[in-house]
Amino acid sequence: MNRASSAGLASDSFAAGFSAPAAGLATHADAASPTQAHAGAHAAPVLVGVRNLHKWYSGVHALKGVSLDFRRGEVVGLLGDNGAGKSTLIKILSGVHRPDEGEIMFEGRRVQIGSPKQAMELGIETIHQHNSLVPTLSIARNLFIGREPLRFSLCGIGPMNQARMSRDAEIALANVDLHLRSADALLGELSGGQRQGVAIARAMHFKSRLLILDEPTNHLSVKETDKVIGFVRGLSAQGVTGIFISHNLQHVFHSCDRIVAMARGEVVLDKAVSETSIEEVTELL
Ligand SMILES: Nc1ncnc2c1ncn2[C@@H]1O[C@H](COP(=O)(O)OP(=O)(O)OP(=O)(O)O)[C@@H](O)[C@H]1O
Ligand SMILES: [Mg+2]
Repeated sequence: MNRASSAGLASDSFAAGFSAPAAGLATHADAASPTQAHAGAHAAPVLVGVRNLHKWYSGVHALKGVSLDFRRGEVVGLLGDNGAGKSTLIKILSGVHRPDEGEIMFEGRRVQIGSPKQAMELGIETIHQHNSLVPTLSIARNLFIGREPLRFSLCGIGPMNQARMSRDAEIALANVDLHLRSADALLGELSGGQRQGVAIARAMHFKSRLLILDEPTNHLSVKETDKVIGFVRGLSAQGVTGIFISHNLQHVFHSCDRIVAMARGEVVLDKAVSETSIEEVTELL
């Protein structure tokens, strides 16, 4: 099943859940129009590329020379068995780990992504497999972790601007159509799906250019999962590049433009959704 053939389902999911509204991201001067994004993401310029990435964890050779390009406005499904190296690859892109060998290119420039903060500065936002939100902090604080606005600042240090965080958090949540009682409530009071919505609201609020979702639908209900899938499907229309990792092939084929499969630290398949099938990927993995 490809994007075009399942367009109806996408709009249902959008109506039901948190969505990526045009207003939220159309602020990128270079955002691709929906038609451009859908018609040929493979013709769009490369946003992020990796070349010959290697990563060892003590004795484990987790990435063995991975080279991939992620184009602007393209949503790539990243598949592979447990331990294939998917999370390792995205942790390198999101500044959690450094590669032992290889290069990362961002818009044609070689970059070092030394920390999650540097990744964020490039516009790379990641929703990690093990959700990195903090249950004992408010929803608003969670939205601004590491980027708290200050009331005033002396050499970068000062009291946090709680009122502004609460106000901006309400806007960020409303922008992904997530309506919660109060942004000042504790994150720990939310359901799994609502927490996932907060993580998505955070990524969208900071205008990500590359959004990485590492198994974002784990432990979610069917309805909550539909919301996330609808959201992923909406990314390319906003000109945002997406990497969607999931063990559910139906979800990936339903929401992505391109499929990359990894096995034992290597890329073993890289094809447009229209050029492969669930059967081919299943056989390969
Ligand atoms: N922090 C770590 N320390 C040591 N080994 C690690 C670490 N993280 C991952 N590994 C190893 O690296 C390999 C790749 O792991 P990775 O988490 O990237 O796989 P994955 O494709 O995301 O798997 P899953 O689908 O189970 O999430 C595995 O053999 C794993 O055991
Ligand atoms: Mg993983």
